[in-house]
Amino acid sequence: MLRRVNFYSICFAFGLSVLLILAGSRYADNTYYRPSIESRRNVRTFLKVEDGEESLMQPMPSISYDGVPNIERIIEKTRSKIKLELLKYNFSYSGVHDLEDLLMESGGQPLQSVIISTWRSGTTFLGEVLNAIPGTFYHYEPLLKHGIVQIRGPPDSNQALSTITNMLKCNFEGMEDYFEYGKTHLHQFSHNTRLWDHCKYKKDLCYDADFTSRFCKLFPFQSMKVVRLRLRLIQELLDNNELNVKVVLLIRDPRGVMQSRQHRSFCQPAPDCWQPDLLCADMISDYVAAGRLLPKYPDRLMVLRYEELALNPNVTTHRILKFLRLSGTQSLDEFLQSHTNVEVAGVSSTFRVSRDVPFRWKYALDFNYVDEIQMVCKEAMNLWGYRMAQNATHMASKEFNPIEDYTITQ
Ligand SMILES: *[C@@H]1O[C@H](CO)[C@@H](O)[C@H](O)[C@H]1NC(C)=O
Ligand SMILES: *[C@@H]1O[C@H](CO)[C@@H](O)[C@H](O)[C@H]1NC(C)=O
Ligand SMILES: *[C@@H]1O[C@H](CO)[C@@H](O)[C@H](O)[C@H]1NC(C)=O
Repeated sequence: MLRRVNFYSICFAFGLSVLLILAGSRYADNTYYRPSIESRRNVRTFLKVEDGEESLMQPMPSISYDGVPNIERIIEKTRSKIKLELLKYNFSYSGVHDLEDLLMESGGQPLQSVIISTWRSGTTFLGEVLNAIPGTFYHYEPLLKHGIVQIRGPPDSNQALSTITNMLKCNFEGMEDYFEYGKTHLHQFSHNTRLWDHCKYKKDLCYDADFTSRFCKLFPFQSMKVVRLRLRLIQELLDNNELNVKVVLLIRDPRGVMQSRQHRSFCQPAPDCWQPDLLCADMISDYVAAGRLLPKYPDRLMVLRYEELALNPNVTTHRILKFLRLSGTQSLDEFLQSHTNVEVAGVSSTFRVSRDVPFRWKYALDFNYVDEIQMVCKEAMNLWGYRMAQNATHMASKEFNPIEDYTITQ
């Protein structure tokens, strides 16, 4: 009895403090209170829409910046900061002797990772995981300006691949389209938190090719996520000796993908996003490409299902890091802890990964719709190890486990 009373009083106290926090933050919006960069980032993180097609994020207030940004000083400060943050980093884990070996500005070659996937497949989470490692320059969605389309071949793929290649070389010259698009879609830059820290108050810096190129060359790790380009086309990056790229293909159950896409207004008008038959044709194409590329580049390509990441975030993340030759860091552990366990004041992050997230579709979707997806996705699901739901009861039952083992064969 006493225990129960205690429980209720704890609940009450907790509820009250949440109310107080909410009330406090409301006032904070228009008074002198300035949240620290870090806490603002967290709030933004929790409201953010995956894949950044539309942003709930309010544009940062352009608070006055003390005059012209001193680019030399930013570069110098960033260089020292990276050095300091990686003081304890074990570089032999990354296959080099020290930091300089990974810095373009010292003639080194950074470790580069590219996540290839499609909308609503968990790329935001994986991208943020990698971005939690200090010294990471996060090339977020280089192909945003193409709109809600999949790029499956020439001529668009030529332009797309040259954009990606230039960015991975930290060469932003001649990328006027990219910067122009970013002017009205700031999330193109804001996910790259280490760049954004400097250019959010002085947007011209975000659009400055010369600054971006120099800034980029300071970073030992580069990651990129791409949801608009199919794996088949990626061979060009793997073959490019000037790059040091590893690729992670991230696949998700089409039923989970389609359920998640229902909540995104950008999706419905775009066939590539809204039609399950196109999604699943791409999944087959990615499977075939993976079968061809894996034997050729065993240590450069990794294939992963989102469900494995969601069910075992820690173990799977460490598997990915091992593949990418990245050593875990304290900041990464903290990120995993805060993004795989907690809910903040009842708002669950769009990319909070936990055991129930990948299978939410089982309870949220109508069986008729699931059946429609399964009909056009039969082959893709079979290849990637996703089991069919037989009927509405079966679908929603606990016994129904949608995933099974799969192998990639040529
Ligand atoms: C650094 O990593 C290498 C290779 O993984 C390992 O052999 C070595 O023991 C590590 N050094 C330290 C100080 O942890
Ligand atoms: C996460 O996984 C790594 C490697 O598998 C392990 O060393 C570490 O203890 C795990 N952390 C937690 C909190 O389970
Ligand atoms: C639903 O599917 C399950 C599994 O195949 C089967 O055992 C069950 O009889 C089906 N129920 C109905 C109502 O068809």
